[in-house]
Amino acid sequence: LDIYFAGLSGVTPRLPVDFATLERRAAAALPPAILKYVQGGCGDEHTQRRNVDAFREWGIVPRMMVDCTTRDLSVDLFGMRLPSPLFMAPVGVTALCAQDGHGDLQAARAAAATGVPLTVSTLTNDPLEDVAAVMGGTPGFFQLYTPKDRELAESLVRRAEAAGYKAIIVTLDTWVTGWRPRDLNDANFPQLRGHVLSNYTSDPRFRTMLGAEAAGHVPAVVKTWAGTFGKVLTWADMPWLRSLTRLPIILKGICHPDDARRAIDEGADGIYCSNHGGRQANGGIAAIDLLPGIVEAAGPVPVLFDSGIRSGTDVAKALALGATAVGVGRPYLYGLALDGTAGVVHVLRSLLAEADLLMAVDGFPDIATLRAAGAVRMTGRS
Ligand code: FNR
Repeated sequence: LDIYFAGLSGVTPRLPVDFATLERRAAAALPPAILKYVQGGCGDEHTQRRNVDAFREWGIVPRMMVDCTTRDLSVDLFGMRLPSPLFMAPVGVTALCAQDGHGDLQAARAAAATGVPLTVSTLTNDPLEDVAAVMGGTPGFFQLYTPKDRELAESLVRRAEAAGYKAIIVTLDTWVTGWRPRDLNDANFPQLRGHVLSNYTSDPRFRTMLGAEAAGHVPAVVKTWAGTFGKVLTWADMPWLRSLTRLPIILKGICHPDDARRAIDEGADGIYCSNHGGRQANGGIAAIDLLPGIVEAAGPVPVLFDSGIRSGTDVAKALALGATAVGVGRPYLYGLALDGTAGVVHVLRSLLAEADLLMAVDGFPDIATLRAAGAVRMTGRS
């Protein structure tokens, strides 16, 4: 209603409230190489498209005569009461999308303004401590790309814990970069342009690996970084990972129920069902179609979800299918590219407003009732 009333006085939103228009605007604003990196995915991008399209095959059955005058979108996660189920998924090199080159600081300010947690990637261009410092009271999560050098991994996790992050998200599907034709065709790999490295160059262990004289030398920094990036994790690494921190550990990229069960047996505190937005492998199955199996396998353990969320309706469907919290990647980057912190705030608020309205109209006063109702599979329709 705020938007409609403002419209009566001729004031329209600075940014579109729907993803398609937002993406078109961002595509026109971003340099082509950066757009390819953000928008692109693996292979012919079938998985990436399925991630989005598959949401249309799930539906929510409305309930009537329920008092939904007020809605409660809050959720519990690892003892924290979050005002909403939304969070920002980890995104590396957000610097590329931000006009001032400080994408994570801008996103962190949006987290502070909305209460929507930000997951800070290992590949943040701003030292993780600086990002944590501007999140206000909103919790942040740190995402670990586990380096081959164990001491560097330990240092990153310790720094995250000391800086006040509330969980460590360990990404499992990216010890190598996937087959991304849009980037490969142009040898377009922004990470190698020295954009991402302040989080590393501010790390004491990384500085030791680098050697003092190489600290200001970008090719040497990139070479050292590339040399240590990407340890293949196996279940045998779980005790070591567990020993690094007292914070909850969430494993990102879990898509098979057996892996979810094993992760929990091995001491994971949370499961993160995601196929990296279709950027890593082009196996073809939409992440949302894998979510119910993961939720069932995880039982009472929280399940985070991302990959393909483009609207508040998608958020509601993921919650109805059992996600504890729902992550968003590319949409918030487009908001960042178009209007910095205000753009991210706009995108997050739009997603939440749409989810909230769906719950109001369809008779779900809170997430628990939405989850209990579930979602219906509409086979054969689009
Ligand atoms: C990512 N993603 C990602 N994931 C991660 O664990 N660490 C990272 O550094 C990155 N970096 C990254 C960069 C860019 C440009 C994108 C678009 C994505 C994956 C991200 O966390 C998430 O899984 C997907 O973005 C979710 O899909 P949607 O919302 O983009 O469809």
